[in-house]
Amino acid sequence: MNRSIEAIKEAALRELASAGTPDAVKALSVRYLGRKGAVTRFLRNISALPAEERPRAGKEANAVKKALEATFADAEQRLAEGAGAADDAIDVSLPGRPATPGRRHPVTLISGEICDIFARLGFDIVEGPEVEKDYYNFEALNIPKNHPARDMQDTFYVSDDVVLRTHTSPIQIRTMEKQPPPVRIVAPGKVYRCDSDLTHTPMFHQVEGLLVDRNISFGDLKGILTAFVHQMFDDRTALRFRPSFFPFTEPSAEVDILCVMCRGEGCRVCSRTGWLEVLGSGMVHPAVFENVGYDTSEYTGFAFGMGVERIAMLKYGIDDLRKFFENDYRFLRQF
Ligand code: FA5
Ligand code: MG
Repeated sequence: MNRSIEAIKEAALRELASAGTPDAVKALSVRYLGRKGAVTRFLRNISALPAEERPRAGKEANAVKKALEATFADAEQRLAEGAGAADDAIDVSLPGRPATPGRRHPVTLISGEICDIFARLGFDIVEGPEVEKDYYNFEALNIPKNHPARDMQDTFYVSDDVVLRTHTSPIQIRTMEKQPPPVRIVAPGKVYRCDSDLTHTPMFHQVEGLLVDRNISFGDLKGILTAFVHQMFDDRTALRFRPSFFPFTEPSAEVDILCVMCRGEGCRVCSRTGWLEVLGSGMVHPAVFENVGYDTSEYTGFAFGMGVERIAMLKYGIDDLRKFFENDYRFLRQF
């Protein structure tokens, strides 16, 4: 009798070892533990045993029943999980996914190209702070407090005397304060203005330029900027110097490039004018030289500040400035 329940258990475990699916385990469980199962039948037959054997046989058969129930349940669960894992398993025969290397943002590329051209013309590259004192952003550039010219650039104020720089021109002052003439620098960086549409964004990039020496004339300004435009684009690119006003230069001019989107016909990018303004420039105002202690009887100079995004738009034929800041990888990966 005892050997018989042991034999049933051994047979059950032997069969379980070759059950490969949760369903096979279920069928096995029915065959041993179901209503007509071997273990159930054995328990039912205990009443036919001699009275003194019944308690021990019952106890042992119940123990086998419990053990098999637990073992079958375990096996069924393990096989079910194993099946799931097989579906998600790594297929080592698939080719690997290549990692995409990072790349430079088009604005960074163009800013670098602009600086490279001026470096070849003998300019040093310098930088300045983005959070700037009112003094450097405005006052030292001949724009006193309450001067109407402050309205030309909508300013983000950090406090009464501190602003997010609205242009890279404060670097002119910081550079001249530190060194005597001659000066020949370009300064790339971010600038901030409360402004947003097709051709304006609240943060954009400029490259400032400053050249101070003896006998510098407006002809030098025109020559350098024309050489720059011809190197940046090609030497037939049309540009024009348009009279303008800046408190820190006199005379002043803005430079426009023929719109590459419409070739001068007029479109939404150039506000139907056929031209796109890329920079402001002029001869350094004597009041600025006086603020940094340069001798105005000996030195003259010119300065300019160009919009990097505008140049990038023209160079790559992009019709909306905001594309540079949306970080759409399908756009960025093209550069
Ligand atoms: C200035 O910022 C002067 N500091 C430039 C300057 C420097 C003049 C030195 C004289 C001497 P303006 O505000 O025009 O000027 O801006 C210069 C250039 O930055 C513009 O020609 C344009 O290309 C670009 N720009 C201006 N505002 C925006 C904007 N919101 N978004 C994108 N580009 C802009
Ligand atoms: Mg302007």
